[in-house]
Amino acid sequence: MSLQTRPLSDAFGTEVQGLDLTRPLGSDEAAAVYRAWQSSGLLLFRGQELSAEDLVRVGALFGTVEKVRAPDEGPAGSARIRHVANCPVAGKAGILPRGAMQLHTDWCYRETPYKAGLLHALEVPDAGGETVFASTEKAYAALPAETKARIADLTAVQAYQNQETERPDVFHPEAQRAEHPVVIAHPETGRRSLFVNRLMTERIVGPAPDEAAALLQVLLDHIERPDFGYRHGWRKGDLMVWDNLTTQHGRRDFDPAVPRILRRITIRGGRPMAASAKG
Ligand code: OGA
Ligand code: MN
Repeated sequence: MSLQTRPLSDAFGTEVQGLDLTRPLGSDEAAAVYRAWQSSGLLLFRGQELSAEDLVRVGALFGTVEKVRAPDEGPAGSARIRHVANCPVAGKAGILPRGAMQLHTDWCYRETPYKAGLLHALEVPDAGGETVFASTEKAYAALPAETKARIADLTAVQAYQNQETERPDVFHPEAQRAEHPVVIAHPETGRRSLFVNRLMTERIVGPAPDEAAALLQVLLDHIERPDFGYRHGWRKGDLMVWDNLTTQHGRRDFDPAVPRILRRITIRGGRPMAASAKG
């Protein structure tokens, strides 16, 4: 089974064409979609008119769809969908309502970050509000050998609270925190990725504080180089699926007066594995 695909950028990402996700995929198609996702880290399907049920079924192609504490809608009893929205949807406020958001990894401040995230556009501005993706796998691969050696065994503390969109000067003492390797190996492909991000990485552990801060800055700037990035201008009906271990995402600013509403589901992940543990 070969899919009809097109690269999203020189860096990474794949658009899958010619599939209607309102109908269940055959097992060959489903396996081909999974392989395309795994090899590129980011998939786009355009023009999908998905119901909440459809979205949850599509999410299951990538793993176990997470139940969320405060769902916004979804199939009866399933509780899996949130709205990323800057205006109320059916009387409920969405999450992440405002403006630009720095690059990050969802839930990296927890022991088990998500495996994947899915966003489906219901209503989007004509301009602004693009989601920016970066391949941390490409970024890692392009590091100089001496940097790779320097960061091989390091860990970093990830921290986050309250729907922040910018790195705070000082991370709040009560922010949720988790410590993870700076270089992780993908549990299925074994490929390495950088696992520090602009919004949520508080500090690298190990080197003296000044040295650790300078090193973190170098890695964050490196990840944001255009050669590892793709910026997605949304159209209604777009569905994006990202690998939350090999990519990061963020958002560009937009006019708060213009509605921006996306359905969001997430796929359960495990504890990120240190690349050094793989030898
Ligand atoms: C998210 C997120 C970015 C966006 O849903 O986790 O970061 O473009 N969204 O709204
Ligand atoms: Mn996010």
